Amino acid sequence: MTHAEAASRAAALSAELHRHNHLYYVEAKPLISDKDFDLLLRELQDIEAQFPDLLTPDSPTQRVGGAPLEGFTQITHTVRMMSLDNTYSEEELTAFFARVQKGLGRDTIDCVIEPKVDGVAITIRYENGVLKHGATRGDGQTGDDVTNNLKTIRRLPLRLPKDGPQTFEVRGEVFMTKAGFARLNQEREEAGEATFANPRNSTAGTLKLLDPKIVAKRPLDIVFYGLADAGGIDLQSQTDVYALLDAAGLRKADLTWHADSAAGLLSAIRELDAKRRSLPYETDGAVIKVNSFTDQRELGVTSKAPRWAIAYKYQPEQAETKLTAIDIQVGRTGALTPVARLEPVFISGSTVSNATLHNYEEIQRKDIRVGDIVVIEKAGEIIPAVVSVKKEHRHGGEQPVPVPTHCPVCHTPVRQDEEQVVIRCPNPHCPEVVKRRIEHFVSRAAMDISGLGESVVAQLVDTKLVGDVSGLYALDELLLARLERVGARSIDNYLKAIAASKQQDPWRLVFGLGILHVGAGGARKLLEHFGGIDAIAAASIEELTQCPDIGPIVAPSIHDWFHDEENIKLLDRLRSAGLNFTQKAVEAASARLNGTTWVITGTLSQDRDTIADLIRAHGGKVSGSVSGKTTYLLAGTDAGSKLDKATKLGVQILTEAAFRAML
Ligand code: IVH
Repeated sequence: MTHAEAASRAAALSAELHRHNHLYYVEAKPLISDKDFDLLLRELQDIEAQFPDLLTPDSPTQRVGGAPLEGFTQITHTVRMMSLDNTYSEEELTAFFARVQKGLGRDTIDCVIEPKVDGVAITIRYENGVLKHGATRGDGQTGDDVTNNLKTIRRLPLRLPKDGPQTFEVRGEVFMTKAGFARLNQEREEAGEATFANPRNSTAGTLKLLDPKIVAKRPLDIVFYGLADAGGIDLQSQTDVYALLDAAGLRKADLTWHADSAAGLLSAIRELDAKRRSLPYETDGAVIKVNSFTDQRELGVTSKAPRWAIAYKYQPEQAETKLTAIDIQVGRTGALTPVARLEPVFISGSTVSNATLHNYEEIQRKDIRVGDIVVIEKAGEIIPAVVSVKKEHRHGGEQPVPVPTHCPVCHTPVRQDEEQVVIRCPNPHCPEVVKRRIEHFVSRAAMDISGLGESVVAQLVDTKLVGDVSGLYALDELLLARLERVGARSIDNYLKAIAASKQQDPWRLVFGLGILHVGAGGARKLLEHFGGIDAIAAASIEELTQCPDIGPIVAPSIHDWFHDEENIKLLDRLRSAGLNFTQKAVEAASARLNGTTWVITGTLSQDRDTIADLIRAHGGKVSGSVSGKTTYLLAGTDAGSKLDKATKLGVQILTEAAFRAML
C-alpha cells in the first residue's frame, strides 16, 4: 500500500467508525455487529502502525488508550467549575424559589429540573469539531487532565458531526451504570480482587488510573448538563443548551421537567423521586436551574455556587438497629472479611439482617462495637452498609472488635497485605479457603459442575473426602454414599457432572483454578493466545505480558502460580484425571485470514496440526512449502530452510505472538 492509498483508506475507515459509534451510542440504531466494528478498527490500527504519521488524536483507535502516564498534568479551567448549594427539605427548596423571585422581582420564573447524577464532574473542550481535552474539577480552578481516560468512553464523540456546533466547552458527569458497576465488582470478586463500595467511588478511582488500557475495560459512561463556553454560539437558556447537546450528539439528561412556581418544583422533585430508581445510574438528588441566561446573570453567583441553581438531595434510606455480632468470612484468597449481624430491620422494601463492613480499618475508623446501635443505609441496589454508630446510646457494655491475629477456622497466624487493609489466612489448606475454592471451581462461570452446592462441598471438605479441586475427580459412588442427606440419584448426577466437566474448555479450568487477578475474560485471552495450559505454565513474565489484557500486575501473579510446587502437583493430578488442557480450534471462528496462504515452520506452543486448524478456522489456507503464493511464514523457534527461502522471496515472517495477536 502506498502512503497516499493508506491515507485515503485511513480517512475512510475513520469516518466510517465515527459514524457507527454515533449510530450505536447516540441513535441507538447500530448498523453493524460489534465484530464487524472490531474488524474495521483492526484494519485502521494496522494502517496506523505501518504509517504512524497518519495517526491523529481523534482517531477511533485512540479510545483503547495509549501508553500509561507518569502522572496527570493540570488544566486551568477557563470558566471556574463551581459546586451547588444543597438542600434536604421541601421548605428549603421553597425558600430558594422565594429568593429567586425576590432577586428577579417577579413571581413566575421558568425553571428546569434534572436528575443529579451521582458520579464525577468533568469538563470537556471541543475545538473545530475535535475533542481537545477533558479535566476533572480539582479545586474548581485547575483539575487533572484526564483526556486519555475520557477517550475510552465510547459514547463520547472524539469528532463532532459536521452540521453541528464545532467549538465549545461542555460540563457533565462521568458515571458507571448500576449494571456495569455490578458486573465490574463481580469480575473483581471472581479474580480475587478488592471490590468497590459504590459506583461513584469506582468511577473516581477509575478516572485517576494512569493506564488508559485498564480504564478502557471499566464501564464508564457520561452525561452532559451544562456549558462553560459556547464558543460564540448565541444561547439564551438551559433549554438552548439541550438543543446544542443534541446537535453535537452529546447525551443530555434522560428526564427533565419545567416548573415556574414553588408548587411546580415540589411536584417535579416528587415525580423524579418516584422514577429515579428505574434510571440506569445512581442519582442522589435533583438539580433545579433557572432556565433563562438573562435571569441567571441577574441573580449572579456567590463565592462558591450560583444563586440561580440548587441541588435538592433525597434522603438516603437509613434505619437504626442493633449490631449483635461481627462474624468473619474467609474468602477464596484467604481474605478475612468482617460481616455485621444485625437485629432484622426493614429498609427500602426489604428486611435486612447483615451489612458489609469492608475491612477492619473501617471498623476502627468508625469505632463500631458489638452491641452498638448503628445507622445502616441502602444506597441503590447495593447491600446495606453501616454508616455510623449512635454513640449516645452506649451504656458501657459494648465490645470493641479485635483485629484477628489468627484465622478463626484453622488458627494459622494471619498476614496483612502491603496496604495493610486486607487481612489474610495464608494457609492454602485452611478448610474454609478450600471450600471457597471448590465452590468457585464448580460454579457456573467456571467448570459448571451443576448440583454441587455449598452444603455438599462443605461435607466433602469436612469429611476430608476432598482436599482440593483435583479430589473431585477421585470421587466414586462408595465415597459419596458416606455423605449425609445425599441420595443415590444425586450421587449419580454429581458423578456425571464431574465426569462431563473434564471436557470443558481449558479457559474454564484456568479461571476455576482461582489465580489471583485472573478473571474469566483474562483466562479466555490466555488460552486464545497460548493455545494450552502447558504453554501458559511455561511462559516467562515477559511472554505473559505479550498476551492481550495481561498487564504488569497480572503476569507475575500467573507466573508465581504456575511455579508454586503445590500448584504444579495439582495440575499433574488434574491432567492425570483426564481434564482438557488444550484449546481446540474452533470451526470458522472468523474470516480474518480469508485470502491468505500460510506456511508453518519451527517449534510452536502447540503442534502444527492444531495451529493449521486454527488458521483454517479463521479462513486461511495452509501449505507445506514456501512459494511466491505464500502470504505469511509462521516461524517458531529453530526454524530452518523454510525461513531462509521466505526471507529470499520477501514473504512476511510472523512470530507466534504476532500471529496470535492477528487473531
Ligand atoms: S449543574 C455550577 N446539573 O453535582 C455547577 N450538576 O453539587 C453546575 N451534578 O459539580 C452544576 N448532575 O458534578 C448540574 N444535572 C446536573 C448534575 C450536576 C450531577 C453534579 C456536578 C456538580 C455537582 C454539584
